[in-house]
Amino acid sequence: MESYESNPAEWMKYAQFDQYRYTRNLVDKGNGKFNLMILCWGEGHGSSIHDHTDSHCFMKILQGNLKETLFEWPGKKGTGAMTKKSERVLGENQCAYIHDSIGLHRVENTSHTESAVSLHLYSPAFDNCNTFDQRTGHKHKVKMTFYSQFGERTPGATAVSQENN
Ligand code: SIN
Repeated sequence: MESYESNPAEWMKYAQFDQYRYTRNLVDKGNGKFNLMILCWGEGHGSSIHDHTDSHCFMKILQGNLKETLFEWPGKKGTGAMTKKSERVLGENQCAYIHDSIGLHRVENTSHTESAVSLHLYSPAFDNCNTFDQRTGHKHKVKMTFYSQFGERTPGATAVSQENN
């Protein structure tokens, strides 16, 4: 992930945007060992605070900037505002890594004028995660879907069915 230098000609066909929410676009299933995907973030689009189902998550910015905010896991009862650990803005070609042992995060394109594109590698692959309410710490299990797969729009899928955004 670190050595790859973003070349839009190589990833353009996977970069399918939605007007309202960020999209998840599957590039490769890694023989069942990982999922490689391209996420497209329109202006102001962001994820919920979420975990990663014990998977390793590597993220690289291919275009634009993304803000990553890290949070502590909420206490057992999940009541009360969640604790923010850190935040940073990642620029083109920068990489990040997160795992449940590090905490939870939210990813956002805070720009009002520029879209952003990121490359994500999840190993092992997972298709659901928990999202968290920042004010209460309450969690909610959500299914994660793909807006497109291998460059083709997923039949029947709407961006609205993705609940992590
Ligand atoms: C992430 O921040 O881990 C990306 C969110 C997603 O995979 O939908």
